[in-house]
This record gives sequence, structure tokens and C-alpha cells, in this order.
Amino acid sequence: MEKILVTSALPYANGPVHIGHLAGAYLPADIYVRFNRLMKNDVIYICGTDEHGVPITIRADEEKITPKEVVDKYHEMIKKSFDAAGLSFDNFSRTTKPHHYELSQRFFKNLLENGYIDTDTEKQLYCPDNGKFLPDRYIEGICPNCGYDKARGDECPKCGKWLEATSLIEPRSKLCPGGLILKDTKHWYLRLDKMQGKIEAWIKEKKWKDNVKNFIMGWLKEGLKKRPITRDLNWGVPLPIDDKDASGKVMYVWFDAPIGYISSTIEWAQKIGKPDKWKDYWFDKNTKLVHFIGKDNIPFHAIVWPAILMGQKESYILPSEIPANEHLTIEGEKISTSRGNMIYIEEVVDNFGQDYLRYYLAVNSPETRDTDFSWKNFQSTINTELINVFGNLINRVVNFVYNRFDKKVPIFYENRLTGYDEDILDLIKTTIRKVKSSYSEFRVRDVTKLLFNLAKSCNQYFQDNEPWKMIEVDKERVSTVLNICFRVLKALIILYYPIIPGASKKLFSIVSKDDIESIDLSKLEDIDNFEGFIVDKPEIPFKKVEDNQINRLLDILNKRINKIDNIMSENKSELSEENKTNIDFIDIQDFSKLDIRVGTVLEAKEVENSNKLIEMKVDIGSEIRTIIGGLKEYYKPSELINRKVIVLVNLKPRKLMGKTSEGMVLAAKIDGELKLLTVEGIRNGAKIS
Ligand code: MF3
Ligand code: ZN
Repeated sequence: MEKILVTSALPYANGPVHIGHLAGAYLPADIYVRFNRLMKNDVIYICGTDEHGVPITIRADEEKITPKEVVDKYHEMIKKSFDAAGLSFDNFSRTTKPHHYELSQRFFKNLLENGYIDTDTEKQLYCPDNGKFLPDRYIEGICPNCGYDKARGDECPKCGKWLEATSLIEPRSKLCPGGLILKDTKHWYLRLDKMQGKIEAWIKEKKWKDNVKNFIMGWLKEGLKKRPITRDLNWGVPLPIDDKDASGKVMYVWFDAPIGYISSTIEWAQKIGKPDKWKDYWFDKNTKLVHFIGKDNIPFHAIVWPAILMGQKESYILPSEIPANEHLTIEGEKISTSRGNMIYIEEVVDNFGQDYLRYYLAVNSPETRDTDFSWKNFQSTINTELINVFGNLINRVVNFVYNRFDKKVPIFYENRLTGYDEDILDLIKTTIRKVKSSYSEFRVRDVTKLLFNLAKSCNQYFQDNEPWKMIEVDKERVSTVLNICFRVLKALIILYYPIIPGASKKLFSIVSKDDIESIDLSKLEDIDNFEGFIVDKPEIPFKKVEDNQINRLLDILNKRINKIDNIMSENKSELSEENKTNIDFIDIQDFSKLDIRVGTVLEAKEVENSNKLIEMKVDIGSEIRTIIGGLKEYYKPSELINRKVIVLVNLKPRKLMGKTSEGMVLAAKIDGELKLLTVEGIRNGAKIS
């Protein structure tokens, strides 16, 4: 029996979680945990919300409430969503609990006393109006790397470079209009440089996924540098030091957050009435510590966190595995809360239940590359794999024994076995073996493929044996075939359990009187003959996903994106009103960058599921372009055809509702009305200058 401590990255309590979070660090962990529970391993699953740091204070500013109110609100909301998805945490805590503060302070002190923390004074950006040092995320300026003028204090969104706020050109505050100055400030640093050797030695023996290992090797090659672990902020764990310079400073959120894995385990031990039980995991070298994370969190879990653990006075275990996932996209586009391109967990669960959501995200688990969630593909995946194959197999097999075999699993006539029967019996065994190793190596996509293949093969086997005909001719033969089908069903129901626990639990009554959770999967290598078992006929928990459901959900998604587009364009038009008296002058060179030409609209049609967009084919002389414009509220497509229009032809192609628009048709807006600019008597392709 293995002892396993599983964690999922503690989500920031600064907003709702969506299916992207679920697919990355939560569902894969829950599946792994449920699998290990069936294996009768000693496994616990620990998580909680990450409630400190600038992400929280930014949200508080946006919502005009206190940081405490932010975390209270989102902790509850996140917990509910995770419940809806069927995540089976043993404990879900919060990093604002008093015992977490104590533990974090003890960690800090230990590092200090062991010589792994020292101080340094540095110049940092200070806002004189506010009397505060500004956190990186509140600072904007020009990127020293690419010149983009809205680079953030920690990163440039344009070129992707990690930045130090002090390296920005012309840094400015997002909060107040006054300028920023450089001022001395003292901070506490984690001496990663002193730990390079230890970390190298520890990592050498790990057989981790390439995406994790490559990342760490890069860092180690550059040489680890000391990193500040304190911040000038009034929201976080206070420093456990008597020093006037420590006032107004708190621990960096990435210092205290992973300690939350331990404080949440401590809380779990208290809750189950064995307050010392957490030590059985954290101090026992035989515990396998598995951190499920999204790929953005790799450096913290593979270097900084192990270093924090290594520098303690007690000997804590170190991470054994760090399964890090890539990203989920939605309808082919990056998930973006600000752009409205996201789907909430409840939207899927309320409409289809948690099993469909879990199944689809398991099939599309972003284990080795980014994967996509699309509503149409969701529908076809569920309808094909769960309804037409697995559901259909259950139905036909169960109905057959209800009608023809007195509701009992039919007798297995061993002396009547054919090669085909033996193939299916073998397939059961190999599938069990392969599925077990796939689950334990975090390859959930492979599990879904193996199980789909077994279900499909068995459907074919049923079909090929034509039991509805053969029953009149050779009942023993049919009896054997159905007996084998039941064994396949039993294997499928058990092996699917970690992915679709709700459905599996119900369906298990078809093949057993026990509770599915009492199965010991570690002992299961084959499905023994269970002829004579009286089959229960539960309600099959699979309902077809209908077109109208999917269209409605697509509509909701598109409305959300359009609504945010509208808000953005409203903001823009307010701005342009202001700008009337405040013109931003440009040079003639700027204007000459625009390639504007005359064109004719040849075709026009509404873009499906969008209430704004019209797709046009426009002849611009040299070629015919596809151009999508927000014209639907102002024009019928038929009114556009044959119009001569003015087209910006060198606008970078962009995707709108999954289609590429290759340019822009110019229009003027007045009093909320949009009018296309038109010309007469000029040939297509003529350049406007
Ligand atoms: N809150 C972080 C995020 O959402 C993850 C923290 S993981 C932990 O990116 F290890 F620090 F807990
Ligand atoms: Zn840049």
C-alpha cells in the first residue's frame, strides 16, 4: 500500500473558477485521487484558497470592497464550483487562517536562523502622493525589450519578457496620476543561490515530464539567484521579526501559499480528531507528495518551494511528482475572463451534470499540449462515446437478459468458447492492466481511449454474434456471449469510476450488490464469471445532448463576449468625445502606414450566433477579401450588396467568432447610428491618400 499526499494548486480567491482551472490542476488530481482510493492506497487530497497578494488587493480596488471581503466571497464561490464538479477534497482550507499565519512565520524564522534568508536594501518605485511603494502589478511603463508602452511591472504582455518594475522606461502608477520615484527599501531574500547544489542533486533523479524538467534545467543553468520574499503591502502574513523596517511589509504571497498545503493538512488532522496525523504524511520519507499545477506555476513548485522545505529545521518530505498541465482553450481561442471567453463550471453542470463535464475534460485533458473545449465537439463526443457506444452497450445487454434470460447474468459455457470470445476476454485483461498504469502515470486521455476501445469492441462483438437471431438456434452460445458482455460492462463501470464517479456508482448495481467504492482495484486483474447474478435495471444516467441545448449555450458564450465588446466600444466612444478638444496629432508618416482602398461588397451574410457581425466578400481590385464587421444592428445583409465601400486593407487579420477577417470596412458613427462610408465612380483598388 502506498502513502500518497495529493494537492492541487491553491486557487487565488480573487474571482470565480472556470473550466480552464478545472481541466488544469483540479480534475486530473481528483481523478488520480479517486483511482488511488480504489487501489486502496492511503491517499489524502488537500487544497484550499490562496488569499494573499496583489491579485486580491487589485480585485478589492476594482470591486471597491476590502481584501477580506474579497476572499470571503470568492472562497465560498470557488468551493461551491468545485463541489459541483465533484472534486473530493479531504480538506479545503484558506491561507487566512491563524494557524497558517503561525506556520508560515515558523517557516520564515527557521530559514532565517539556518542562514537561508538575509536582507538587502534596494531602490524601488515609490509613489510620493500615496506614500507607498508600489507592487509590480500596479506599475506600467515602456518595455525595455520591445518598446510596448503598456508593459506591466512584472511582465510585458506584448513580448512576454519577465521584467523588473525598475527596468521599465518612464514607469507610472496605475492608481494615481503623479510620477514615481526610486527610493531605498529593505527586503528579506531567500538565498536560492546557496541552495543550488542541494536542488541539483535532488532533481537529478526525477523522471518528470519534459515541460517540467526543461524549465528547471534552464533555471539551474543560469544559476539560482536570491529572491525577495517580502513585499511592501498591508495584506498578507506579517514578518515575525522585531525590526522597524519590517513594519508595513508582509511575506510575498508565493512564500506563504505553498505552506498552505501543510496548514490545510494540519486542519484536516484536527477535523478527523487525530491532530498529529498530518506528521504521518509530511515527515515520512515514504509519502509520495504529488502537486498538480498549471504550467505557469512550475518554477515555484520545482525550485522555490522545495528550497523552502529544505531550509527548515524539521525534515519535511519534498515533492515526488509535479504533474503540470498545459492550457485549455475555448472555441479555439485563449480563455480570457476580461474578454468574456470562458465557461463557468456551473454552466456545464447545471445543464448536463458533472459526469459529462468530467468526461469531456478527461478526453481533452491538456496533458502534453493545449486542448480545446468547443460546445459542438462536446456534444458530438458525449453523444458518440457515452451515448452511442457505452450507453447503447449497457442498454442492449441489460434489455436482452431482461427479455430472454430472466434478468440474470447468463451461464458461461466454457466448452463452447470461440476465438472471438477469447479475444474479448483477453481485451478485458489487457485493458485493466493498461488503464491502471495510465491512471497512475497521469495519462487520463489514454484511459479514455482504452475504455472507449473496449466498449466499442464489445458493441461490435454483440452485433456480430446476432444474439437476437441466434437465440432461436443455439441458446448456449448466446448465453456465453452475453455472459462475456456482462464482464466487459463490469470492467468498464469500475474503470470509468475515477472519471465519471456519479454514473459509475449508479451503474454498478447492474453488475454487483456492493458499493463501487469498496472495490479493491489493486487486486483486480480480470473480471471473474458472475453468472446467475440478478441484474438491476437502474435508470441509465446518460441523456443525449440536444442541438437546442448546445445552441443556447453557444449563444450565452457569444453574448458574453459581445457584451464585453460593447462595453469596450462604449468606453472608447466616451473617450473619443473627450478627445474632440484634445486631439492627438500624428505625423504624415503615421498616416501613410494605412493602406486604404475602394472596394465593392459582393456578398454579405449574417454570422451565425452573433448579434453584431456580418460577413462580407469584398472585391478590392487585386483580390477578394473576407471582411467581418459589426454592422448587423444597422444594416440588413442585402442592403450591403453592391455597395462601394472604403476598406482598410492592411489591418492585421483577426479572428472574430472563429472566422478570420482580413481588413476593415470604414464607417462613421453619429448619435448611436453607424453609417458606411461610400463613394461613387471610383474603380475598385484605388488607393486613398
Ligand atoms: N494561487 C496561485 C495561482 O492561482 C497558485 C498557488 S499554488 C501554491 O496561480 F502552491 F502556492 F499554493
Ligand atoms: Zn515587451
